[in-house]
Amino acid sequence: MAFTKKTVRDVDVDGKRVIMRVDFNVPLKDGVVTDDTRVRAAIPTIKYLKEHNAGIVLMSHLGRPKGDGPEPELSLKPAADKLAELTGYEVKFVDDTYGEKAAAAVAEVKPGDILVLENVRFLKAEKKNDPEVAKKLASYGDIFVLDAFGTAHRAQGSVVGPAEFIPAVAGFLLEKEVDTLTSIFAEPECPFVAIVGGSKVSSKIGVLDHLIDSADTLIIGGGMAYTFFLAKGYSVGTSLKEEDWIERAGEMLKKAEAKGCKILLPVDNVVADHFGEDATGEVVDSDKIPDDRMGMDIGPKTVELYCEAVKAAKTVFWNGPMGVFEMDQFAKGTEAVARAIADSDCTSIIGGGDSVAAINKFGLADKMSWISTGGGASMELVEGKALPGVEALLDA
Ligand code: 3PG
Repeated sequence: MAFTKKTVRDVDVDGKRVIMRVDFNVPLKDGVVTDDTRVRAAIPTIKYLKEHNAGIVLMSHLGRPKGDGPEPELSLKPAADKLAELTGYEVKFVDDTYGEKAAAAVAEVKPGDILVLENVRFLKAEKKNDPEVAKKLASYGDIFVLDAFGTAHRAQGSVVGPAEFIPAVAGFLLEKEVDTLTSIFAEPECPFVAIVGGSKVSSKIGVLDHLIDSADTLIIGGGMAYTFFLAKGYSVGTSLKEEDWIERAGEMLKKAEAKGCKILLPVDNVVADHFGEDATGEVVDSDKIPDDRMGMDIGPKTVELYCEAVKAAKTVFWNGPMGVFEMDQFAKGTEAVARAIADSDCTSIIGGGDSVAAINKFGLADKMSWISTGGGASMELVEGKALPGVEALLDA
């Protein structure tokens, strides 16, 4: 499916000032960016704009500040420094977003310059998409570029607002993310195997529903598997469970059967007597989980089953870990599935969130076809929802 919105290629940016929304919501430790993936992801569009003689004003949120004013530990300055380090470009930073200081710094931006504004969420009105915020941000540029895929599902001032006042187009990251995450479902090369893990059925219900419609095989792992076990009549001991979602999980199993989507659930599990770094695991079959044990990972027979399915796939979509991968003793299932994807020559799309953290932990990122920079945004897209940020852009 082609991207249906205008991009930076479709507008003349020469000599213009561009206000660009990026997603520099990066993890920080002691004021230093600890994962620069999102900064790197914005560089192709920034480079393009600079090489096409545009003056660039970048804005982003970082974290979830209260919105009552500056919170120094959530300043965008470290992200601006990281951008300078990664590109070798001079990157200016102003510790203001909506005030006179920001306006003065923006007025100084000449073609080829790059200025980063302070965190857009230091003002509450941004999250409410206040028209005054939108108008102010739009006044900083002749053209608005949205490249913040990770935030495109938020109808907030800096994401959707400027599009009401100035021409609004997509950057390359947004284009590639939307294109990749929609075309995989529209025209997947089959067999299409989807793998969904994570703790809750409730938080991924829309995604599961959509995948049953489009995948040949749906592999389920992580804490959510135990709610499916309950739907099948198994006991799950002290494992994570969502009582209110058992019926819905059962309906999904039936829907999958009717649609010809094969659902794979764990056949064995690594269980422990408590949740903790010092917990040790033992392997039990899925219909034999003792009352005083909780599931922590998929077991070895399940690993074999899931890896076989991955091996046979031409397309794989993966979101969510198979177990508590943050603890090494319960990371084997997630690691094995990640390695099976990495070793296969299938098209592999990783849908943000914890699965990305897992892939990075195992050093397999460069073996995947595409790793989404969005968590919530990629899930909404996979559910088939329209992203407000994308909707606001000019049609191609
Ligand atoms: C993310 O990290 O998923 C995006 O940056 C969006 O952040 P938010 O959930 O705080 O809006």
